Amino acid sequence: MAHVIVGVTGGIAAYKAAELVSLLGKQGHEVRCIMTSAAQQFITPLTLQTLSGNPVYTDMFHPQDNMEWQVEHIGLARWADCVLIVPATADFIGKVAHGLADDFLSTCVMATAAPVIFAPAMNDQMYANPIVQRNIATLREAGYRFVDPVDGNLACGTSGKGKMASPGEIAAVLETLREQDLRGLKIVVTAGPTREAIDPVRFMTNHSSGKMGYAIARQAANRGADVVLVSGPSAQPVPSGVTVVKVASARDMFEAVKAQYDAADVVIKAAAVADYRPKTVATQKIKKSEGDMVLELERNPDILAWLGEHKKHQILMGFAAETNDVREHALGKLARKHLDFIAANDVTMSHSGFGKDTNQITVYGADGRVHELPVLAKEAAADQLLNLVLEKYQSKKALS
Ligand code: CTP
Repeated sequence: MAHVIVGVTGGIAAYKAAELVSLLGKQGHEVRCIMTSAAQQFITPLTLQTLSGNPVYTDMFHPQDNMEWQVEHIGLARWADCVLIVPATADFIGKVAHGLADDFLSTCVMATAAPVIFAPAMNDQMYANPIVQRNIATLREAGYRFVDPVDGNLACGTSGKGKMASPGEIAAVLETLREQDLRGLKIVVTAGPTREAIDPVRFMTNHSSGKMGYAIARQAANRGADVVLVSGPSAQPVPSGVTVVKVASARDMFEAVKAQYDAADVVIKAAAVADYRPKTVATQKIKKSEGDMVLELERNPDILAWLGEHKKHQILMGFAAETNDVREHALGKLARKHLDFIAANDVTMSHSGFGKDTNQITVYGADGRVHELPVLAKEAAADQLLNLVLEKYQSKKALS
């Protein structure tokens, strides 16, 4: 649990600050909100007061009755473990970048020793404006952090990069306050299903949601790793600070992973790759006919087996989603694909598998060790997997 200040500035995305405050409360954090006067044109202090359960700071010179500290903005600045600016307008970014402090929020930001994280939201042209970009660069240089905006529909009727990251993504950044123990490691993660085209309107795929792979990528980036996420089609939000390569078919994924392999220290293959693809892809939509239809399939490359064969310094972790004889199948894959670890789960269990938020994984190591993890949220499970990878990396380094 952390003490979090949510500073709200005047943009239409201010309404999402309400959702963020609610989410942080549910996650057990104690939240205090500060609003600029422009922010109060978009949502009211009462909204944030109700959701945070605390008074909202709006005015520098007319403190409310319930003052806790002698100098309120300094007391609050010291109280905070983290300050989130949600949304961060071009104006507020510019103000802090130039050292201006003329209201409650800007003085508090100036006075705090806690990490300050900006979630910009604005029109795409404004965001691309070199002055805004220069201000962002200045702030980054000074140690301020950003949850980058994403491409999307903007309130001004256009679409482009300027839409604020989702409250979930912003809340996840609190995790970055943790130790950066994976700094210096390049980790490639694959996630999601693959799609194998049948004709221009149909494809074969599977039930993978991408949640496990995205959780691994997110946690690895939060712990300081340089992360490339090669993802099949997935509705999961792109984790902040992760480089995403979007692919469709197993062959696309193969090429994307091969391109990253030499530079990678670790590859974690959480993707559910289709083992087969249609032998021919019709160029026109296949029309139905009276009788049955036979679709001939051919083998896809086994990406992980290729990685195992061409392994040099890399640490490889595969996944085995099984419905029966989990241990036997997992150990078979560990040996056959020359892996360091295989993370196995029984997808028939109610708390594991496709689309679930939890997972119960048993990790088998090439060293013969078996790690039985309890039922965990996918984020927590991801951390455990990363701990094993880190331990292996450190012991390899100590030997070399
Ligand atoms: N995998 C891969 N390329 C494939 C198939 C699988 O890289 N064409 C990877 C998956 O990402 C996963 C691991 O291999 O990390 C295990 O996948 P799975 O399909 O369960 O293993 P297979 O060896 O294909 O065995 P089977 O289909 O018999 O279960």
